[in-house]
Amino acid sequence: MKLHLKIWRQNGPNHKGRLVDYDLDGVSPDMSFLEMLDMLNEKLIARDEEPIAFDHDCREGICGMCSLFINGQAHGPDALTTTCQLHMRRFKDGDTIVIEPWRAKPFPIIKDLVVDRSAFERIQQAGGYISVYTSGRTVEANNIPIPKETADKAFDAATCIGCGACVATCKNASAMLFVAGRVSHLNRLPQGRVEAARRVQQMIAAMDAEGFGSCSNTGACEVACPKGISLADIAYMNKEFIASHFSE
Ligand code: SF4
Ligand code: FES
Repeated sequence: MKLHLKIWRQNGPNHKGRLVDYDLDGVSPDMSFLEMLDMLNEKLIARDEEPIAFDHDCREGICGMCSLFINGQAHGPDALTTTCQLHMRRFKDGDTIVIEPWRAKPFPIIKDLVVDRSAFERIQQAGGYISVYTSGRTVEANNIPIPKETADKAFDAATCIGCGACVATCKNASAMLFVAGRVSHLNRLPQGRVEAARRVQQMIAAMDAEGFGSCSNTGACEVACPKGISLADIAYMNKEFIASHFSE
C-alpha cells in the first residue's frame, strides 16, 4: 500500500506545531498502525531526519500508552480498539491519514505525538487504591463472598487502561469516565468500601484541581473508549459522591 500521511510535529511544549506531509510506500495490510509508524521512522533515520516521537509500550491493548487521533477519531476508526491493535488493512491504498496527539489542556504536548498524562497519575494517587494488611494478615480473596453481578461490574470498570481517549474526545476535556472507572471498580467491592466516601470525594477534587472540565452527558467518551467503560459508571460515581456526604 502507498499512503499519504499528515503527522503533527512539534519540537516541545512551548513550540508551535504543524502538520507535516510524508509519503510512505510498501506498507503491508498486515502491519499494525504502530509498525507503520516504525517503518516511517526507519526511513526518516536513514535520511538523517528526526524520527517522529510517539508513545507505546505493550502493543497489546493493555497499557494505554498508544494514544493518537487518527483521521479525527481517538484510536482510529475501529470501535473498542486501541491504536496498537489497529491494522493497516483497515485503510486503502492511496489513503491520506491525518495523525495527531490528544488535544486537551490537562494533557500538554511534550513532543510530536507524545502528551503528558501524569494528571491521571495524580488523580489515581488521590484515592485509586485500597489499604490492606499485606503480611500474614491478609484474607484469602476467594473467601469473601461477592455477588456475581457486582463482581462483573467491578471487573468491567477495572478494564480501563488510562489511555485518555475519553478526555481527548470530550468537548469539555472531562475525565469523568476515567475517574468513574476507578470509583466503580473499587467502591463496588467489599475491600474498597472502607475508603469509599473519601475515595470518591478526593478523586473528584483531584480531577477538578488538574483542570479537567465538567461532564455534560454528551456520551462521546463512551464511544471513544477502547475498553467499553460505560456511562453507567459515571451514574454510579455520581450516586456514590452524593451518598459520601451523608456517610462521614
Ligand atoms: S475510560 Fe476508556 S477512554 Fe478513558 S482512560 Fe479509561 S480506557 Fe481510556
Ligand atoms: S501500546 Fe499498550 S495499549 Fe497500545
